[in-house]
Amino acid sequence: MTSVRLGIVGLGTVGCGTLSILRDNASLLAQRTGCDIRVSTAAVRDLSRPRTCDTQGIRLVNTPLSVATAADVDVVVELMGGTGLAVDVVRTAIEAGKHVITANKALLAEHGNELLALAEAKGVMVAFEASVAGGIPVIKALKEGMAGNAINWVAGIINGTCNYMLTEMAKPGNDFAPVLKEAQRLGYAEAEPSFDIDGIDASHKLAILASVAFGVPLSRQGMLIEGITMVTADDIAWADDLGYKIKSLGIARRREAGIELRVQSALVPKSKLLANVDDVMNAVMVNGNAVGTTLYSGAGAGGLPTGSAVVADIVDVCIAMRTGQVLRPALGIAMKDLSPLPILPSSEIQTAYYLRLSVTDAPGVLAKISAVLAHEGISIEEMRQQPDSARSAAALVLLTNVVKEAAFMNALTQLSALTDLKSPVAWLRVEHLA
Ligand code: NAP
Ligand code: HSE
Repeated sequence: MTSVRLGIVGLGTVGCGTLSILRDNASLLAQRTGCDIRVSTAAVRDLSRPRTCDTQGIRLVNTPLSVATAADVDVVVELMGGTGLAVDVVRTAIEAGKHVITANKALLAEHGNELLALAEAKGVMVAFEASVAGGIPVIKALKEGMAGNAINWVAGIINGTCNYMLTEMAKPGNDFAPVLKEAQRLGYAEAEPSFDIDGIDASHKLAILASVAFGVPLSRQGMLIEGITMVTADDIAWADDLGYKIKSLGIARRREAGIELRVQSALVPKSKLLANVDDVMNAVMVNGNAVGTTLYSGAGAGGLPTGSAVVADIVDVCIAMRTGQVLRPALGIAMKDLSPLPILPSSEIQTAYYLRLSVTDAPGVLAKISAVLAHEGISIEEMRQQPDSARSAAALVLLTNVVKEAAFMNALTQLSALTDLKSPVAWLRVEHLA
């Protein structure tokens, strides 16, 4: 049997999930790979901290860089996170001729072009299935299962923390702060939770998805990035009433002039499968020019689900090492063959919109609002009104047709200047995912 020695950097949520799978499924993995897979060393920050996984027989160190150069490590599994030391660990491992597996989407989105080019030059593999959508094998689906397609668009729920929080916030009495705390306790949230709630984590994942889908370099430049902090319980309730759920989505769409890339909170019709993906679950829809639309869903965060994707990469790398087979390029095509495409400005986005206005309950107000929309070529598809007699106000909720964002923004500026407003206009995009 071929012996493969792993060095794991980080034994937190994902590291311990990975180690537990390697131990629990050891004989199955040996059968599947034809390899004797051992973890020879692992790096942590605090050697005295109790671990949630069994570290017996593993040399524990607090020097991550030493794992990258250790003589008894063939494959470095980077699960420490961040874009500081982790980048040095990965770069050093590649330079030392070691294969690398990582779950670190921030590292890939920020430094992936350099690191993957280095890996190609050194003839080593870099695998990152766990970096997007936790346990869902969507990178493999794009690179392998859909290799015969030109990809038209990818859209999905790619942040488990946000999906968990939006699901919980739809239940009565659940506020933002305690729900976030629970997501942290469950091991879903990033070390810096603003990465989740401000859409940054999803933007890293979307950069990776877009790169694999469209063969473009890894980049977030020009991407529209919005979080979930603007979503209120009122909007969730109104959306529900209108037949929608609010989801945090990552969308990458190939248009003639370039790519639309956006992370946003949006209304999704309840009739769509994506609207019914709740809690920490993720789901990614991929539309290819041959196959049409496909959907991948499963747990998007957590130790065992994410570890499942890490171990899948370990299996691939082990088999490649044993057979001498060359894995596909990390992004599906060689780094030198990637071709940049312009990222379209947000003014070019084409979608429908949800608007919520609190206005003076007086004759003529609705006429003013519809005049503004009509002037920008925007049609009202649906409208609801609820009187608020205590404030002599009315809540008006509108859904528009699909328009260019530039037109919507013009309308929004004019609506926001109306003297009949009781509070700022709330708005969200509406995605029909077709
Ligand atoms: P985590 O629970 O915070 O674990 C990080 C681990 O790295 C800990 O064991 C920590 O050591 C170690 N570490 C951090 N800095 C170190 C340093 N300077 N020196 C030595 N060890 C260091 O993080 P995680 O949630 O497992 O996430 C790991 C990576 O997976 C991140 O890139 C994350 O974005 C990604 N990811 C996470 C999930 C998820 O569900 N959590 C899902 C997909 C991808 P100590 O334990 O001693 O502090
Ligand atoms: N914080 C991330 C999330 C972890 O909630 O989706 C998985 O990548």
